[in-house]
Amino acid sequence: MSVENKKEFKPKIVAFCCNWCSYAGADLAGSSRLNYPADVKIIRVPCSCRVNPMFILRAFEKGADGVIMCGCHPGDCHYSTGNYYARRRMTLLFSMLDYIGIENGRTRVEWVSAAEGVKFSTTMNDFVEKIYSLGENVKLGDLRCKN
Ligand code: FES
Repeated sequence: MSVENKKEFKPKIVAFCCNWCSYAGADLAGSSRLNYPADVKIIRVPCSCRVNPMFILRAFEKGADGVIMCGCHPGDCHYSTGNYYARRRMTLLFSMLDYIGIENGRTRVEWVSAAEGVKFSTTMNDFVEKIYSLGENVKLGDLRCKN
């Protein structure tokens, strides 16, 4: 077995969280001492609709093994309808990603309110477990980003 095969798989997860709900939910999870894996790197965005599809593609290009987008529950968006646009956009993007070989399990949309620290924690644990089962992402990766 080569040295590279022996390296333990540590998934890189990018989580886009809207400022008004999901990021506050992550904060609550932290202050409630609920744990979620350190493999999850949170990027705070003003609203889930701020997440341009290019952000997701860029994350995979830079070596992410999974990308999750979290926002306010439908009807609760701080900007009224932002998450409806985001949901449509992500549904289309994720189906196209699946078509080119990035499995559906590597992408997810989740609604987490500011009061749902437990949901944030369980969602992230569940998502990381899924990425562990899928293994390393080999699609879309920029070879220049490999060490
Ligand atoms: Fe949270 Fe729009 S402000 S989804």
